[in-house]
Amino acid sequence: MNDFSALPVLPTDDAGYWQDPYPHLAEAREQSRVAVNADGLLQVLRWDDAVETMKGTRFIAEGIEVLERKGFNPGDPLHTWRKNAIGTMEGDQHRRVRGLAGAALSKRKMDGLRPMIRRHAHALLDEKMEEGALEARHDYAGPLPRRVMMEFLGIAPDEMMAAMGPMSRVNIVDCFGPNVTPQLRRDANESIQVSMDHTAMLFEKRRAEPKDDLLTALLEAGAQNEKLEEGELVPLFSTIFGSGASTTSIIASGLMEFARHPDQAAILRADPQNRMNGASEEVLRYRPGITGVGQKASTDLEAFGLELESGTPLMVSIGSANRDPRNFENPETFDITRDPKNTSLSFGIGAHVCLGHAMARATVEEALAVFVERCGEIELANEPSWIPFVMENKLDGLSLRFRGLERTP
Ligand code: HEM
Repeated sequence: MNDFSALPVLPTDDAGYWQDPYPHLAEAREQSRVAVNADGLLQVLRWDDAVETMKGTRFIAEGIEVLERKGFNPGDPLHTWRKNAIGTMEGDQHRRVRGLAGAALSKRKMDGLRPMIRRHAHALLDEKMEEGALEARHDYAGPLPRRVMMEFLGIAPDEMMAAMGPMSRVNIVDCFGPNVTPQLRRDANESIQVSMDHTAMLFEKRRAEPKDDLLTALLEAGAQNEKLEEGELVPLFSTIFGSGASTTSIIASGLMEFARHPDQAAILRADPQNRMNGASEEVLRYRPGITGVGQKASTDLEAFGLELESGTPLMVSIGSANRDPRNFENPETFDITRDPKNTSLSFGIGAHVCLGHAMARATVEEALAVFVERCGEIELANEPSWIPFVMENKLDGLSLRFRGLERTP
C-alpha cells in the first residue's frame, strides 16, 4: 500500500479554499504531480498527467462505486439512474450509445441553432435594458440555456417542466462531490425518480405518436439490433437535459470576468464574430464548470511515482490542469486572445468527452457576444462568492450594472 502522507494536501474542507482554490493548486502542482484532498482522494494536477489519465486505457471512468461511496445504495433511484447512464458505461455499449446519441447533437446541427440562441439572448436582455441592471444567473445565464434546450428538444414546455422541473431542485453533479448530506441524498433520489417516471411516459407517448424531436430521434436511432433500450433511453435523455445547468455556470462566470476585465470585453465587442470562440474557450479554461472528473486505475499499475492497486479512485483536477504553465502561457491571466485551438480540459477528453460540447459552445459563444454587444460599462454591483464544497463551480449570486448600448442589426 502507498503512503500518501508526503503528498501536498488541498484544504477542501475549508470554505475559504473554494473562494479561490487556484493559489493552492499552483503551489501543490509545482511541488508534486498529485495531491490529496481533505478526504484523502488523489488529485491529478499537471496537464500531461491529466490528459493521459482521461485519454489512455490505464485509467477508466469511475463506475457506480463513486455513488456508493457517497451513501447511495442499490435500489436508490439515483443509483439505478447512474448505473444505466452513459457516463458509467464502458466498451461496446458505451460506443454504441454514444454513436446513436452523438448524431443528434453534432456540431453541424448545433451551429444551425445559433440564430435561435441569439434571438433568445436578445429577448432576455431587451427586458433589462431600461433598468441597466440584472442578476446574471436568474435573468440571463439560467433562462438562456433552458430556452435553447427546450426549443431544440421541440417538446412542449409543460411536458418538459414535468419531466425535468424536479431535477432543477438539486444539482445532480454535486452528488459526486465532497459534501453529500443526507438531505442532498433524499432530494436527489426523489427528484430523479419523478423525472425518470415522467420521461418514461414521454417516450411511451412518442412511441405511439412520433414527432420531429429528440425523443423520437433517440427512439428511432440505429438499426434494429442496436437500438437504445428503455433502460438506456431514460437516463440518456435526462443527462442531456440536465447538462444545460453547466452551460449556465459558464455563462455566469464569463459575465463576471467581463465585468472584471473591461479591456477583454472591449476586444470581444469590437469583433464579436471572430472573437466569440476565443472568449468562450477562455472562460471555460479559466473558470471550468465541472472542477474534477473521477477516474480509477483499470489494473494494478505504477503512475505519478506511486504504485496503485486496480480500482484506486482519483480525481483529475480540471481547475489545476487548465492553469498549468506547462501548457498555457501566463495561465493566471484571463486573456480571450489566446489560440482557441489550444482547448482546455473543461469538456473532458477521450472516450467520455462531453457529448454536448457543440451545443454548449454555441450557447456560451452567442451568450457572451450578445451580452457585450448590448451592454457597455459592465460593473459588479456586489462582490460575488462561489458556492463551497460542490463539484460545479457556481457563483452564489452575481448582480451586474451596465449601460445599455444601441442594438445593431
Ligand atoms: C458548458 C457546459 C458543459 C460542460 C462544462 C460539460 C462538461 C462535461 C464533462 C467534464 C463531462 C465528463 C467527461 C468525462 O467524464 O471524461 C461531460 C460529459 C457529458 N456531457 Fe457535458 N458539459 C456541458 C454541457 C453539456 C450539454 C449542453 C450536454 C447535452 C446537450 C452535455 C452532455 C453530456 C453527456 C451526454 C456526457 C456524457 C458523455 C459520455 O460519458 O460519453 N453536456 N460534460
